[in-house]
Order: sequence, then structure tokens, then C-alpha cells
Amino acid sequence: MSSEFKLAPSILSADFANLQTALSQCDEGGAHWIHIDVMDNQFVPNLTIGPPVVKSLRPKTNKFIDVHMMVIEPEKLVESFAKAGADLITFHIEATDDPQSVIDLIHSTGTQVGISIKPSTPLSDIEPFYDQVDLILVMSVEPGFGGQGYMDGSTERILNIKQKLKEQCLQDRVLIEVDGGIKLHNAKEVIDAGADVLVAGSAVFGTENPAKTIQAFYNL
Ligand code: DX5
Ligand code: ZN
Repeated sequence: MSSEFKLAPSILSADFANLQTALSQCDEGGAHWIHIDVMDNQFVPNLTIGPPVVKSLRPKTNKFIDVHMMVIEPEKLVESFAKAGADLITFHIEATDDPQSVIDLIHSTGTQVGISIKPSTPLSDIEPFYDQVDLILVMSVEPGFGGQGYMDGSTERILNIKQKLKEQCLQDRVLIEVDGGIKLHNAKEVIDAGADVLVAGSAVFGTENPAKTIQAFYNL
């Protein structure tokens, strides 16, 4: 594929007893980012990992650590994830009444900021913040679990966001990341719609040879 997209394998689908192996597979495959799904069992019905795990992973990789917080009260965790070594921290628009203060808090730690949106939340909720963030994370499944199918309406949402970014001359400054149900067979459609970063969990770690699968994404 000609466009220079980045692949962010999600370790949610990796073997949690062997995360170092997952990092090595990402290195071998040439992935750009590592996507870390943080779930609090309140914002979503699942419980995963927190800052201590990011802190342990940080010295084991020089890849860009992309933390996706699916938590209520995101402001309470920002500093810990920044200190643990996150490069980018994304929060959900649905998880706060004061998105501007969360954006400012994340930036104040020197970390890049992402804003994420669930599939049924209107895009108008995040539009006022396009010029404030480094990344927009478009959920293409209901957040909470890996291995779900890509929701078709997501492509339309990516096109809409890209168009709005272009209208504000932000398309080179604000990345669009797409998360959920990304597979080898639909990656091209998502990139053509305007995605800059693709998250892939089960499509990478659910295969026999994750490193080879990562390479296959880049060779599409
Ligand atoms: C879901 C997570 C995703 C998940 C994607 O809530 O945000 O990052 O790991 O998994 P797949 O690629 O299997 O849909
Ligand atoms: Zn995610």
C-alpha cells in the first residue's frame, strides 16, 4: 500500500504471561507503535492493565507507546501513565464532562493527546477539539473486547473526520487512528478513507506467526 500508515498491534490479544514475546514479535514484524488497552470494568465491562505494566514494558521497547484509556475519570490516571512512559494518552469523550481539562492535563505532562469516540456517539461531540489534539481514535467496535467485527458505518465516520480536518488544514497535524475489527482484508478500505494508524489485536496475535502478519499488513 502506498500510503504511510502505521500499524499499532494491540497487546490485548497477546498472551499476558508473555508480553516480552509480544514486543519481540512487534519488533520482528516492523510495527511502528504498541497499542495498550486500559479498561476499568466501569467504562467498559472488562478489566485489563494499568500504569505498572506500562512501566515494565517501557524499557523493553523503543516503540511509540499508545495508551488507550477506556476508563471513567480519566484525569485520575493521566499522570501515572505519563510517568510510566506513555508517548500518547487517549481518553474517551463519553468518559468526561470536561474534555478540555483532560486535554490540557495530558499535554501538561509532555505526552501527546488522543480523543476517542464510541461508534454511536455523534461526531459533533468531538469536533470542537480537533485543533486541540494530536490524534482522533475512531472506535469501529463497541469498546471492551478484542475479536469483534468491524462496524461498517465506521468508514463513513473516518471520511467525515478527514474532510473536517482538511477544512481546518489539520490533516497533517492530527492523526486518525481506527480501532476494532481491523483485518488484512479491510485494512485498505480503512486507510483509503483516511486512517493514519490502524490498531490490530486479534488479527495479529490471533495468528500463528504475528511477526509475519504484521509484515503482511505493511505489504498490502
Ligand atoms: C477494544 C480495544 C481494541 C482491541 C481491538 O475495546 O480498544 O484495541 O484490542 O481488537 P481487535 O483488533 O481484535 O478488534
Ligand atoms: Zn484500543
